[in-house]
Amino acid sequence: MNNTGTQKAITRLLLHLHPKKIDVQAIKYTRTFGLGGIAALLFVLLFITGLLLRFVYVPSEKEAYNSIVYLQNDVLFGQLLRNMHYWCGMMLVIVSFLHVIRVFYSQSIYFERRKNWLYGLLIMFLVIMSNFTGYLLPWDQLSFWAVTIMTNMLSYIPIIGDGLASLVRGGSEVNEGTLLRFYHFHTGLLPILMVFIMSIHFWLVRKTKGVTVADPSKKEMVNTNPELIYKEIVVALSLILLLILFSMAVDGPLLGKANPLESPNPSKAPWYFMGFQELLLHMHPGFGIFIVPVLVTVFLIYIPYFKNIEVNVGTWFNSKSGKQVVLWSTIYAIIFTFALVIGTEYIFKFQAWLPDIPVLITTGLFPLIIYIVPTYGFIYLVKNKLQANRVELIMGLVTILLTAYLVMTAIGSLMRGEGMHLFV
Ligand code: HEM
Repeated sequence: MNNTGTQKAITRLLLHLHPKKIDVQAIKYTRTFGLGGIAALLFVLLFITGLLLRFVYVPSEKEAYNSIVYLQNDVLFGQLLRNMHYWCGMMLVIVSFLHVIRVFYSQSIYFERRKNWLYGLLIMFLVIMSNFTGYLLPWDQLSFWAVTIMTNMLSYIPIIGDGLASLVRGGSEVNEGTLLRFYHFHTGLLPILMVFIMSIHFWLVRKTKGVTVADPSKKEMVNTNPELIYKEIVVALSLILLLILFSMAVDGPLLGKANPLESPNPSKAPWYFMGFQELLLHMHPGFGIFIVPVLVTVFLIYIPYFKNIEVNVGTWFNSKSGKQVVLWSTIYAIIFTFALVIGTEYIFKFQAWLPDIPVLITTGLFPLIIYIVPTYGFIYLVKNKLQANRVELIMGLVTILLTAYLVMTAIGSLMRGEGMHLFV
């Protein structure tokens, strides 16, 4: 094939990211689903569309909303540009999340990949923070009240909560200072940090000799160019085309200009924080916003460091019984979480039944115990019935936590209306 100069330049650039030869198993689509690469592409698209948005956007309480309306109505392709940036941002949250699921369930986070799991968790945090800080910038009713709810939640953190909330907001409520802070984080500090940490992430993938494969003894090496590079180019071009078509068809939301005196009913957090907002309806904020998230984060960080584990690196769900564990844990978490939401909404009114006991216990410790004790029983049952090993039990627990968060997100987003009352 006759390579043109541009083709050569692209190939050379991509070969900086990949080795010259690669195992066929590693480039099968079902190995990674291309999720890491897609996330990287979305980041690049966000960077480019974001740079262009900066030409029109004005980060001030008076002008922010008007500049978005002007962009949408009077700038050539302005609406398309805003939509592309908005949908790429949402997609990056979803794709990064799916990528975490892929690396976790394909046993790709242990031993020499531990460090990359930790950098990955940091990237996930930065992705969410980038999305959240961008959420406020249009300064409409949706963004203003979503950020008001989230920053109010921060103030429930014991001891440092109030100080932290007013540090984030730059005052006692969301105002121009908050807008400026969020703007500088969103367009300055966070992208720089992400480029830095993502570079380390890619370098560590190379250092661990590429992605995991199910059977390293069946190695069959092929040339990265064209075997992988062509696949990547096809996925990238299809994704860009799809994104443009979607952004032409569906506009990013924009309500009326922010009005601090009139809160919409219901006021909801951005969808990826909806699970927290739902949790707070059932649990003392000290637990819902601090103790539970801290425990879960420490657990996630610690997973690859558990001792005495039998891992089949690169094997989806570790083994046949691992697959069963994940299946049953998902079913358990869907039913149990849903039942608990209904239960704590309508039946278990510990605070009313035991008014003399501190609320931290009746609305914090009790709901936590109601969740933990049966879950411990379930894990014990799984261990004995399915002969699951330690890695598989950890997988079961993560599946329960993940599913519970997704169920609460769905309930909060789809099943709550005025006054955050349940439809059922
Ligand atoms: C913008 C976000 C991210 C980008 C661009 C990214 C990119 C990549 C790429 C290109 C790969 C190699 C190919 C693949 O697995 O698809 C990879 C592997 C990996 N990523 Fe990410 N990643 C991101 C977020 C995360 C997060 C949030 C985690 C975990 C919490 C994570 C953990 C890992 C691990 C452990 C591997 C090695 C997998 C293996 O060796 O099979 N990454 N990442």
